Amino acid sequence: MPVLSDAARGFRPLQMAGRPARREPIVPVLGRAPRVHLWHIGCQMNDADRERLAEEFADIGFIPEVPLEDADLAVLITCTVRANAEQKVYGKFRELIPWKRERPGRAIAVTGCMAVEHGEGLLQRLPDLDYVFDVREPDGFMAKLQALHAINLDGPITLPASDRLSAYVPVMGGCNEMCTYCIVPFVRGRETSRPVDEVMAHVQRLVEGGVREVTLLGQNVNSYRDPSTGSRLPELLRAVDTVPGLWRLRFLTSHPRNAVPELFTAMHELATVCEQLHLPVQAGDNALLRRMRRLYTVDEYRAKIRAARDAVRPRLSLSTDVIVGFCGETESEFAATEQLMRELEFDTVHLAAYSVRPGTAAAPRADDIPVAEKKRRLNHLLGVQRDIASARNRSYVGREIEVLVEGRSEDDRPYGRTRENKVAWLPAGAAEPGSLTKARVVSATAWQLHAEPLGAAA
Ligand code: SAM
Ligand code: SF4
Ligand code: F3S
Repeated sequence: MPVLSDAARGFRPLQMAGRPARREPIVPVLGRAPRVHLWHIGCQMNDADRERLAEEFADIGFIPEVPLEDADLAVLITCTVRANAEQKVYGKFRELIPWKRERPGRAIAVTGCMAVEHGEGLLQRLPDLDYVFDVREPDGFMAKLQALHAINLDGPITLPASDRLSAYVPVMGGCNEMCTYCIVPFVRGRETSRPVDEVMAHVQRLVEGGVREVTLLGQNVNSYRDPSTGSRLPELLRAVDTVPGLWRLRFLTSHPRNAVPELFTAMHELATVCEQLHLPVQAGDNALLRRMRRLYTVDEYRAKIRAARDAVRPRLSLSTDVIVGFCGETESEFAATEQLMRELEFDTVHLAAYSVRPGTAAAPRADDIPVAEKKRRLNHLLGVQRDIASARNRSYVGREIEVLVEGRSEDDRPYGRTRENKVAWLPAGAAEPGSLTKARVVSATAWQLHAEPLGAAA
């Protein structure tokens, strides 16, 4: 349920069932449908939540996705995975205070993972905040807004057609893994999967709207299980692969423990499934992995990578996540992580310094790696990975790639992504946005490929 703002004395909001309304909103008669500015930070789940919220706002007759200066309501979709994500949210909130005070009737809402973590405590901490709601259950919040603004609403509005080519589709929520450093299971809850049919219908709807590339999302997407049929991720991929008009299919995030050979076989066999695997390793030392409660050994991880690389041809692009400076990380444990990165040669590594998260199993442990040392380790591995990525990308020179062209730079050069999820640039005028173009790589850096077109692929 939303909690209403103090800053609105003199107006009479609806009473919330069973709970006194401690704050009341200003509800001016706008004479038009309220407009909503959405802002988000964090992982792809929040991208997907933003899109769903925009649809829910449109359903109650609000106009979503307007620029801040035109908005009546600003909604922050937040992340709490590390302290610096929270700091960015507080920074954004501070920017909104003068915006809100500029015109009576403006309001600010916070949702997403920080809203679950702090709940109504945020209203005490942030006097200018009007609403806190759980993004997983926005109905109460939407109903409240609808009732408050009923006089200005004309029923559902139609969202303008989008020209995007790629979209995220959540197939499950929550995580049961309970890695000792991670707050996600606390703020996203236990795993729940959507039925295959529902996912298919969602993908079909997106493809009918022009989307060509879909990424299926779950915090631990390998443990996907259809609630009635028990179908697992490989079967889900097989089903979604049949959607006519879909060109590319990806999935995120895989947990190494649950990445099984059938998954790699499906990746190889299915035409739409891209040659890309994100398999977070977190650390390259067994004792450190145990302290993180990752439930696999470095050798088991190596074996998964070997199996995936053997199965997915011609070339699998691999990405991973690594945390440096976790509680008690010794020099030799850190060196083992570097060694594993050099050995496995990931295409991309998302590196993060350990950040204590309240309520997690690791929170009471000593956060004993000084900040300066965490930064040193982080920067060292960033340098190591830059060289690896650069060499990996250079090895594409002379090879054929397929680019889904997403847009054009100011100097008219088309850019897009390859099936391996690498950014690729083409010469000016070489291809139209929305096309699938075959090209040959002529040069590469650690972050992108440059290619010459060979002809349209679709
Ligand atoms: N489910 C995925 C997995 O199994 O690794 C990752 C989801 S998590 C939102 C994304 C990444 O954030 C993790 O892989 C981890 O590297 C990083 N992360 C999570 N908690 C962290 C913490 N307390 N400090 C630093 N990084 C953290
Ligand atoms: Fe967090 Fe671990 Fe779940 Fe990933 S698998 S979301 S790191 S608890
Ligand atoms: Fe952040 Fe929540 Fe995603 S904590 S990483 S937005 S699941």
